[in-house]
Amino acid sequence: MMKRTKEQLLVDRTRYLGPNVSTFYDDPVHVVRGEGVWLWDADGRKYLDCYNNVPHVGHCNPRVVEAICRQASTLNTHTRYLHDGILDYVEKLTGTMDASLDTAILTCTGSEANDIALRMAEGTTGKRGIIATDATYHGNTALVSQLSKSNPPSVGFGLGQFFRFVEAPDSYRNPDPDGAKFAQSVAEQIEAHEKSGIGFAALLICPYFLNEGFPDTPDGWLKPTAEVVRKAGGLLICDEVQSGFGRTGTHMWAHEKMGVVPDVMTLGKPMGNGHPIGGVVTRGEILQTFRSGYRYFNTFGGNPVSCAAAMAVLEEIEDKALVRHANTVGQHARKRLEALQAKYEVIGDIRGSGLVFGAEMVLDRDSKEPASEFTDRVINAMRQRGILHSKLGRHKNTLKIRPPMPFSVENADLLFDTLDEVLAETRLAP
Ligand SMILES: Cc1ncc(COP(=O)(O)O)c(C=O)c1O
Repeated sequence: MMKRTKEQLLVDRTRYLGPNVSTFYDDPVHVVRGEGVWLWDADGRKYLDCYNNVPHVGHCNPRVVEAICRQASTLNTHTRYLHDGILDYVEKLTGTMDASLDTAILTCTGSEANDIALRMAEGTTGKRGIIATDATYHGNTALVSQLSKSNPPSVGFGLGQFFRFVEAPDSYRNPDPDGAKFAQSVAEQIEAHEKSGIGFAALLICPYFLNEGFPDTPDGWLKPTAEVVRKAGGLLICDEVQSGFGRTGTHMWAHEKMGVVPDVMTLGKPMGNGHPIGGVVTRGEILQTFRSGYRYFNTFGGNPVSCAAAMAVLEEIEDKALVRHANTVGQHARKRLEALQAKYEVIGDIRGSGLVFGAEMVLDRDSKEPASEFTDRVINAMRQRGILHSKLGRHKNTLKIRPPMPFSVENADLLFDTLDEVLAETRLAP
């Protein structure tokens, strides 16, 4: 295999993969190895990974690697053969949820999972009107890409009429402490779907609004919204692709934190620690309706190797008490963020729970004007100092810190000590 320089890699990416295949950072990182919360580049430089939620239980986690190797060297087929692996996994997975969520379809990606969820809503309600927030991303199929405001589709396949949007919650600029305003805006879009003749099928949201910049939504915040959705006869679909598997530190699933039980929930990213597996979990009767109305088969979804990887992730979360760990480290991170906010005017707001936390950067605390360009320079300066994280939210001015779950208090201290130095050195104006 050819060993390319960084410059050759960039040229060959465009040559072989086409244009607009994005990279992180002005100076992209060429990673060659990972372990736990650490990554190494081709020159042997070590980076603290404060960004990647996919290697949930740590890069190259030995238990997951061993499970994949063991199963790959025994058997890998698909779900048309009988196999214990998928059944053991779905039993264990649904055992972490409300008793009503007791059946699942396994997929290879979060996009596929959301695609199925939307079709479950159509099958169950006989309607097609979907509602989502106006600052989110739920995946890349022709159907779910219609919901993306961050990566908008250039063609609509004539589906645009089925999607309506509500303003994403923004606790900093538009407080809604009990979720009543959000519920009201969902009710308005339900009415619009009904009036149009399309009818209301489902609300699809990330219960912790991660792509929206994880606004501070107190526990139980989604209760009024769930009531509105149920009253209208629609389904509540919670996309836990980012927020699930204990990320928020207080609960295994973010919908529990928000005080609701979804009709359908979708999973992906951390589920197999990087091995491609996603899923849709729902009540038996919804699954039955879907299975009767849509003949669904997924060649790779639910294969024995994927299930072994996913099972090892659940075992690792349990054995290492990673949800509690996320809570402890998250509380420490919050204190460090508060101290930085007291020191730097540019930090307008801090937020997060467990191992998803960040700070919103503003040019002026009174006007709350987003410091988007400044945030970009901070992220690039952090990368140069060996700390990898990113930014998100409507204005791309919120630091996005979402490390692998074994991230420790010491790791957090290194992150914030470095951020302190970078904020001291980075000028507000370019
Ligand atoms: C909330 C959410 N849902 C779904 C997806 C799509 O998942 P995948 O890339 O595995 O298709 C993403 C990916 O970023 C996501 O953030």
